[in-house]
Amino acid sequence: MENIALTTKAVNSVIASLVSPSTGAAPRARADNETTADPSYFAVGFSPMDAVHREFHDLLGALGEPGDQGEKLLALHEHLLRHCGQEERWMIDSEFAACAGHIREHETLLEVVSEVRRRFDAGDSDIVQSLADELPRWFEQHANTMDAALATHLGKFAQLGGSLETRVAQETAEA
Ligand SMILES: [Fe+2]
Ligand SMILES: [Fe+2]
Repeated sequence: MENIALTTKAVNSVIASLVSPSTGAAPRARADNETTADPSYFAVGFSPMDAVHREFHDLLGALGEPGDQGEKLLALHEHLLRHCGQEERWMIDSEFAACAGHIREHETLLEVVSEVRRRFDAGDSDIVQSLADELPRWFEQHANTMDAALATHLGKFAQLGGSLETRVAQETAEA
């Protein structure tokens, strides 16, 4: 049987650390009419990322509603594996230099979601609500710092050479 090393308190403290990541610029100020219930708040100005962020927003919203929480956690985890993996591929394909801190934040996020799923499967149903409460705040900060910087870079990169795939193929041929 798997030895669950982290206590609920420890998981909560990891979730809390997500809310105040130690790296990155200050998030932009939220307008009075913006809330985490509004998917436009997660928009970063690069349409492929914004589409993924809207999907994430909808899954987060579902997590706070009644239903099969285990299924919703699984859907959120699968989404985040794809979401983080896609952004990391974009970083590599576009040779984005400032990627280490961003990837570390993704790794921490995925560790927390994995641990929350383990705790939920072990009978701690309250942990799902903690995640539903804390993750939107963490994501505001992540989207407005790490993701926004990547979005700006990808926008410039796409302007220079069309799609990422085309640009990468061109550079490979030129090398
Ligand atoms: Fe993102
Ligand atoms: Fe990200």
